[in-house]
Amino acid sequence: MSVPKVYINGKYYDKPDAKVSVYDHGLLYGDGVFEGIRVYNSKVFRHQEHIDRLYESAKAIDLKIPLTPDEMKKAVEDTVTLNHKKEGYIRLVVTRGPGTLGLDPRRCDPNVIIIVDDISLYPPELYENGMPIVTSSIIRNHPNALSPRIKSLNYLNNILAKIEAIRAGCLEALMLNANGEVAECTGDNIFVIKHGVLKTPGTEAGILEGVTRNVVIELAKRLKIEVKEVALTRHDIYAADECFLTGSAAEVIAVTACDGRSIGTGKPGPITKQLREAFQALTRE
Ligand SMILES: Cc1ncc(COP(=O)(O)O)c(C=O)c1O
Repeated sequence: MSVPKVYINGKYYDKPDAKVSVYDHGLLYGDGVFEGIRVYNSKVFRHQEHIDRLYESAKAIDLKIPLTPDEMKKAVEDTVTLNHKKEGYIRLVVTRGPGTLGLDPRRCDPNVIIIVDDISLYPPELYENGMPIVTSSIIRNHPNALSPRIKSLNYLNNILAKIEAIRAGCLEALMLNANGEVAECTGDNIFVIKHGVLKTPGTEAGILEGVTRNVVIELAKRLKIEVKEVALTRHDIYAADECFLTGSAAEVIAVTACDGRSIGTGKPGPITKQLREAFQALTRE
């Protein structure tokens, strides 16, 4: 494969030369926003939804993106075309930009970065057989501290939970909110199925409103599966008939155990499979 060409502020650089300043507040403070987006069949999947969320995240952190949403969309498409990507993953990043060593963002000039590459989050056998997760002791960020709806460059909350998952021999961790309810996993949204009803926490649980989550809700409704956005506890995960995660990188993956309790039959369930197939068909349209 040829070397990826990375977009930085309107110019393209070969991967080894794609660099930004060490004074960038994205590096110094995790100050910035991003999106992770899939390319299927040379098309940017749910492009508008990702652009909308990026600009909402930027607004929430009071970061003015130096491109209009349409200019940003074109820059993403041009970078995908330049990299001849049929199937891949886009990392779209807007940092606060280089400034002084203090927190004050006023002297910063944002950097816009578009990387088009590949991603494989979990090994293929986990997509076949499902994966175990554990509950993390790390509480998901309180919405009044740093809203999980902001897809910011500050992912320490999630990384701390991911470290616990890895220590426990898993690749994902369930994160609860400050009320002890289920929020989401470190890089994915979570769904359960109980008596044929698909349930997932609402945004008030303190989650990132996943683009894939919304696609799966849409697909379920099309398939006449009842969907409820409700508060869930760990009991709902343990006692579920089926459980799965969604994310741009993860796509749709079954969860077959949580904290050592097997979920349902301990294998990917029929509704999970049905939704995964519907998702795959949609991405190949
Ligand atoms: C914390 C978190 N939740 C959920 C998701 C899933 O969101 P999406 O489907 O938009 O990729 C992600 C991935 O971006 C994430 O990082």
